[in-house]
Amino acid sequence: MKKEVILWAGAGQIGMAIARRIGTGKKIVVGDKKLENAASTAETMNNAGFDVVPVQMDLSDRLSILNFIETGQKYGEIAMLINAAGVSPSQAPIETILKVDLYGTAVLLEEVGKVIKEGGVGVTISSQSGHRMPQLSSEEDELLACTETEDLLSLEILQPKNIKDTLHAYQMAKRCNEKRVMYEAVRWGEKGARINSISPGIIVTPLAIDEFNGPRGDFYKTMFAKCPAGRSGTADEVANVAELLMSEKGSFITGTDFLCDGGATASYFYGPLKPEK
Ligand SMILES: NC(=O)c1ccc[n+]([C@@H]2O[C@H](COP(=O)([O-])OP(=O)(O)OC[C@H]3O[C@@H](n4cnc5c(N)ncnc54)[C@H](O)[C@@H]3O)[C@@H](O)[C@H]2O)c1
Repeated sequence: MKKEVILWAGAGQIGMAIARRIGTGKKIVVGDKKLENAASTAETMNNAGFDVVPVQMDLSDRLSILNFIETGQKYGEIAMLINAAGVSPSQAPIETILKVDLYGTAVLLEEVGKVIKEGGVGVTISSQSGHRMPQLSSEEDELLACTETEDLLSLEILQPKNIKDTLHAYQMAKRCNEKRVMYEAVRWGEKGARINSISPGIIVTPLAIDEFNGPRGDFYKTMFAKCPAGRSGTADEVANVAELLMSEKGSFITGTDFLCDGGATASYFYGPLKPEK
C-alpha cells in the first residue's frame, strides 16, 4: 500500500519533535544541508518505528528544493510539509540568512503548494524575532508577502545598506515567513490545503545553543529569565502547536502565525523585557 508522504526540511530538534507527532504510518523524506544530520535523525526515528528516508537538500537553492520534492513524489502524494530548516543570527552572515531563511522558505512554500494533495497541510517555523522589531509599513509587508520569489532578494528593504546586522536580517526573514504564509494560504486553499507558521521563542536546540554562546548570549539568557514563563522552551512544546495545526482539530486554521514563546514578546512590548529608550 502506498503511504502518504511528509516532506520535512531541516533535520534539527524542532523538526524531529514535529515529525514524531504526525509521522506514524507515513513515508517521511527528511532533507538537510548536512546529509549527516538527516541520516542520524532518520536512524533515530527508524529505530523507533518510523519510516524515514534522509536526503541532502539546500533550502537556499530552488533546484535542490525541486529535487527534494521529486524524491518525495516517488513514494506517493505529498500530504504534509514540515519546514524546520534555517540558520540563526550567530550562525551565518546576512546574505546567507536572507538566502536560506527568507528566500528559501518562500520558494519551498511556493513549490510544495503546487504539488500538495487535496486536504494537505504544512507548517513552517518562523520566530518570535519577526515580532520583536519595529512595525513595517503595510506596503513593505505586502512586498514581503507577494513579491515573486525570484525578485524577493532584490527588494530595496533587503539591500545591504538597509540591513543593520545579522539579527536584523533574521528578523526580516522571519517577518517575511509570516507574510508569505498568508500569501500562500490563499494558493494552498485552492487545493483545500492549509499552511501556517509557528514563531517559537527560545527553544533549546543546537541552533539556540549557538546563540547562547554567540555575541548576544547574555541578551538571550535574560530574555528567557524575564519572560512570563521564566524559562526556555522545548521542541516538544513547539510540536504541541504543530500537532494541533496539522490535525483535523486545526481544520479552520490557515494563513496564520502562532507565537509560542513563553510570553517573551508580550514582555518585550509591555513588561520587563521592554528595551530602555
Ligand atoms: N531554537 C530556537 O530557539 C528557535 C527559535 C525561533 C525559531 N527557530 C527556528 O526553528 C528552525 C529550526 O531550528 P532548530 O532550533 O530546530 O535548529 P537545529 O539546529 O536543531 O536545526 C536546524 C537544521 O537546519 C539545517 N539547515 C541549515 N541550513 C540549511 C539549508 N540551507 N538547507 C537545509 N537545511 C539547513 C541544519 O543543518 C540543521 O540540521 C529554524 O528556522 C530556526 O530559525 C528556532
